[in-house]
Amino acid sequence: MEISYWQSRWQKNNIGWHMEEVYPLLPKLWSKMSALAGATVLVPLCGKTLDLKWLANRGYQVVGIDVSAKALHAVMDDVDEPFIEDSSHGFTIYRSDNIKLWEGDFLNLPVTAVPTPNVIYDKASIVALPPDMRKEYTNKILQLCGNQTEILLQTFCYNQNEMNGPPFSVDKQEINRHYGQQFDIHLLHQQSKFEELKKFQHRGLSSYLTEKVFRLKPKT
Ligand SMILES: C[S@@+](CC[C@H](N)C(=O)[O-])C[C@H]1O[C@@H](n2cnc3c(N)ncnc32)[C@H](O)[C@@H]1O
Repeated sequence: MEISYWQSRWQKNNIGWHMEEVYPLLPKLWSKMSALAGATVLVPLCGKTLDLKWLANRGYQVVGIDVSAKALHAVMDDVDEPFIEDSSHGFTIYRSDNIKLWEGDFLNLPVTAVPTPNVIYDKASIVALPPDMRKEYTNKILQLCGNQTEILLQTFCYNQNEMNGPPFSVDKQEINRHYGQQFDIHLLHQQSKFEELKKFQHRGLSSYLTEKVFRLKPKT
């Protein structure tokens, strides 16, 4: 998926993935994570998710990265805080007290310029990327991780032969391939979305669609 694909979707407001509410499972799932207030939460491919504000309001230092200026301006419009704009490493950066937004290609994010996150929150992010981009994406995630970093990761699983992504199907075996050496992988939540997300049936899905959320805990 080229950057131009996403820019075009934002331009046309063709953003069917966006939720007009905080991800309903987030409060419950977050209680399983060990990050304390003040911890840094990195949200790759964040779009304009309201989850950024939810996390910031709970005292976390939130770092969001997206290639879309439109998305990040929508986040800033929604947050009642002043942002200062500057640029570095080819990114435009918007900073408030609790939220830092990096506008640019996540794959080019300078690892040493962002604080080591306590949690990486991957919501509809890895599934946004086609198979041939996911290795580079997860390598970047691994470079960003410190010894204590946990990952909260949401995926969809379905028969990839029936529908093309995004969202792409990313199953536990693949998560294990990318992250299994460094992390213990626990399934926190699993739910069929086949009936609820009818739009995917219109795109060809005929059998199953399962949302899965994993907690990745660094191996000791
Ligand atoms: C499916 S959306 C998910 C957005 C958000 N995580 C959410 O749940 O609402 C994928 C997002 O990734 C962004 N994106 C895709 N490729 C990117 C890249 N290489 N670097 C930064 N952002 C990217 C797109 O602009 C889009 O906002």
